[in-house]
This record gives sequence, C-alpha cells and structure tokens, in this order.
Amino acid sequence: MAHTIAVAGKGGVGKTTLCGLLIQYLCEQGKGPILAVDADANSNLNEVLGVEVETTLGEIREEIAQSEMNSNSPIPSGMTKADYAEFKFNSALVEEDDYDLLVMGRTQGKGCYCYVNGLLQAQLAKFQNSYPYIVVDNEAGMEHISRGVLPSMQTAILVSDCSRRGVQAVGRIAKLIDECSMHPSTVGLIINRAPNGELNEGTREEIEKQGLNLLGVVPQDETVFQYDCDGKPTVDLPEDSPVRAALRQIVDKLNLQ
Ligand SMILES: Nc1ncnc2c1ncn2[C@@H]1O[C@H](COP(=O)(O)OP(=O)(O)OP(=O)(O)O)[C@@H](O)[C@H]1O
Ligand SMILES: [Mg+2]
Repeated sequence: MAHTIAVAGKGGVGKTTLCGLLIQYLCEQGKGPILAVDADANSNLNEVLGVEVETTLGEIREEIAQSEMNSNSPIPSGMTKADYAEFKFNSALVEEDDYDLLVMGRTQGKGCYCYVNGLLQAQLAKFQNSYPYIVVDNEAGMEHISRGVLPSMQTAILVSDCSRRGVQAVGRIAKLIDECSMHPSTVGLIINRAPNGELNEGTREEIEKQGLNLLGVVPQDETVFQYDCDGKPTVDLPEDSPVRAALRQIVDKLNLQ
C-alpha cells in the first residue's frame, strides 16, 4: 500500500516547487516508482518537473460525462463505460523513469460527474497498490482531500511563507485534515522563502499559537524564482542549491517508511 504524501498551503507559497523537489529527492534515494498527482486545477507541477502533459483526468471525466448526452459516443461498442474509463485513465499517466505523473485538471461543471468521479476514486485506490509512494500537489482549497477523491494520506506537508496569514491558513488546513478523519501519522509545516533561511520571532510565535509541528525552513533563493521566470524546470537547479539542500534535510528528518 502506497505511503501518500499530500502537500498543501495558501496560494503561491511554493507548494508545487517543494513538491517537485520532494519527488526528485525520493527518486534519487531509490524510493520510486512514485506516483506524482497534480491535484491543482491550474496544474503546473509538470513544469517544475520538466515534463509534457497530453491529457488530464478532467478532460477524460468530461468526455465520459458528456458521452451520456451524446449520440455518437466515443466509447467503442462492446466496451463498458467503466472499462473505457480505466483504459483512458491509464493512458493519461505520463511515464518517466522513476515516477509517473497524473494530472487531475479541471471539469467544466456541466453534466453529472458522480459516476465518473466514482470511477476515478476507484482508479486512484488501485494505484495505491502499484506505487510505494504517492505525492500529491494540492490546490489551496484542498478540494480533492475534503471531497474524498483521494483515498488516504499518511503524511501532510503544509507549506507557508513567513507571513502570519500564511501560518494561520495552514493552521486552518491542519484543522480540516483533523475533521476529514484521514488521520495522517505526520502533519508537518515547512516555512518557505525565509530571508537568509531564518525564521523570525513573529512567525515562530504564530506557529506555536497554531500548534503546528515545524519540520524546517527553506530559504528564499533568487535562483529558484529566476528558473521559473526563464521557464527552466526547478528540478534542474544545481545539486548544491540551498533550497534543494534544505528540502533534503527536511525529508531526511521525516524518516519516511
Ligand atoms: N524558496 C524559494 N525562493 C525563491 N522563490 C521561490 C521559492 N519557492 C518558490 N518560489 C517561487 O514562488 C513562486 C510560487 O511558487 P509555487 O508555484 O511553487 O507556489 P504554489 O504554492 O504552488 O502556488 P499555487 O498556489 O499558485 O499553486 C514561483 O515563482 C516559484 O519559483
Ligand atoms: Mg502550485
């Protein structure tokens, strides 16, 4: 059964960046094959990882949901809708050497998705038997977790910048996780983009107030931002990049099984 790691936090704090570096580090440690799930409707984990995506689960869900209303259905005759969905979901996997990437994408909200969401849920549950690790990059709202589309989570990594509001936001996410009865064994916080890699007193105070477990601090590094602006994958940062080094330390401390 896969160990699922979900990364969450307020918008723009560096979730996708850290998620990509986490996937890279797990692969380097030989912990693959990893299933990377981009659960953000505005998906861009593939850019951080430097891979191309052809289709998203949202597009497939859309196609199948629409097929109900469509006279010339894309589903070949003699094939059940469930078999077609499984075939399509599998073909949506972007396969790399040490990891596969699955992009949830978005749906347009027309038609009924209950049936196809059920199929997707079943598919994700099946993937749990095929990978030792599943790493999920969430959107700020954590919709897939709160709606139970993602079956389980053992480790929640909450990401915040140094702002009190960022820390308050992850405090709320920690409560939501509590209420979702998923009971991850670890819920930890990473403070990202800290000037000089140092935590200031105000931020530390808010972390304590929110009762959060601080895993570590990742420094603000202009090179990360520059790579992003130049359209270069974050995983191509030099190995001695301070951001990669800080992330490695944090993951080592997590002692993932
Ligand atoms: N440690 C860092 N130092 C400098 N820039 C960083 C750092 N971490 C992330 N960034 C930059 O911050 C921006 C936002 O990062 P990212 O897209 O990872 O955030 P996010 O939380 O996933 O955002 P969203 O909520 O939109 O999904 C990017 O331009 C990224 O390159
Ligand atoms: Mg993101």
